Amino acid sequence: MVDDTFAFIIHPIQIKKDVARKYPLLGKLLTERQINTFSRFFPPVYLSEIEGIRSVSTGRELKGWLIACPFTPPTMMSLSVNRVYDKIVACGHMAEELGAKILGLGAYTSVVGDAGKTIADRLNIPVTTGDSYTVTMAVEAIREAARVMDIVMRDSTVAVVGATGAIGKTCAELLAGESAKLILVGRRLEGLEEVRDLCTGKSAEVVISTEMSAIYDADLILTVTSAVHSVIEPKHLKPGAVVCDVARPRDVSRRVAAERDDVLVIEGGMVEIPGAPDFHFDFGFPPRHAYACMAETMALALEGRYEDYTIGKEITVAQVHEIGEIASRHGFRLSGFRSFEKPVSEEQIAAVRERAVQSRKVWSRA
Ligand SMILES: NC(=O)c1ccc[n+]([C@@H]2O[C@H](COP(=O)([O-])OP(=O)(O)OC[C@H]3O[C@@H](n4cnc5c(N)ncnc54)[C@H](OP(=O)(O)O)[C@@H]3O)[C@@H](O)[C@H]2O)c1
Repeated sequence: MVDDTFAFIIHPIQIKKDVARKYPLLGKLLTERQINTFSRFFPPVYLSEIEGIRSVSTGRELKGWLIACPFTPPTMMSLSVNRVYDKIVACGHMAEELGAKILGLGAYTSVVGDAGKTIADRLNIPVTTGDSYTVTMAVEAIREAARVMDIVMRDSTVAVVGATGAIGKTCAELLAGESAKLILVGRRLEGLEEVRDLCTGKSAEVVISTEMSAIYDADLILTVTSAVHSVIEPKHLKPGAVVCDVARPRDVSRRVAAERDDVLVIEGGMVEIPGAPDFHFDFGFPPRHAYACMAETMALALEGRYEDYTIGKEITVAQVHEIGEIASRHGFRLSGFRSFEKPVSEEQIAAVRERAVQSRKVWSRA
């Protein structure tokens, strides 16, 4: 008998591909535009039962469910926020009926409106966006990527793109104490000034910019906007740069993978789950792995912390440290790197380092 339970809401991001995971024919036949339109009228979709998650410290097991909110990112951006809340709350009611004791909000369902507050008020089970652990894992991924690329973080220039956002702001606060220069990039100067104030007085000199070209100086880039389309193109990156893309949909254009073999792009937020988890649904990750936001929901359930955890746009550094400690104790770990859905090998990392050296020679002569 498993007492601890959770549910997690996901939604189509790579629209045709993700719809085909549940409805192969619809994913094949419908255009993206048709899916965006039909998704407005679709009810919540039960996807699967998750089993086999087991804490390494207590041995307790966890049962969960994956539920799909049918809305795509463009649909969520175009509908009124109340219509989006209604659909997410309907997904939450499905979670309650299944017996979930806590609900996690995946990707855009955690971004819309007040980031989970209204949804939590309207449900009888607690809610988390999972964003605290997303911050923990994003910063850990940047540290690890710096290590494998021989970049000394305390001497490096780090950029945070989407620095005014819930996740971006707290990542910036943490990285300000670990780097020499911090470039904060966003769309609103006023918002950036507030984040700069939060980051000032630590090890890094802090600069702000509303221009994406500002990241060209950066050795390490953490990007986490809620843009519907990619915002980072090949021309924005210097040779040898490392980009940790936490955003879903991704911020880094596929052209970077095609045209720049001298930079390393990794996906932020992929976590190895303890035990022998089986999701009984392919959401695009390798077996036994999940998004950091899913992992936060699981870790809270294993800890018996059935309370609203990360909701709203303010994520504290204390909460990031706390969930990091809880998750680590139960056996959640940063997973190996992936880039554009494929694993990154040590040989590939060595090759990127080598090509960066070559590109820099050409680059400095130009
Ligand atoms: N990998 C994971 O495990 C995981 C977990 C949770 C969330 N996420 C993803 O993380 C991302 C951010 O989430 P969040 O909760 O931090 O969102 P948020 O609080 O809404 O912040 C979004 C940020 O993106 C900026 N932005 C929005 N549209 C933009 C555009 N077109 N161009 C440039 N910047 C833009 C916003 O700037 P303004 O201040 O100007 O609006 C803001 O700084 C989302 O893609 C979400 O799906 C990933």
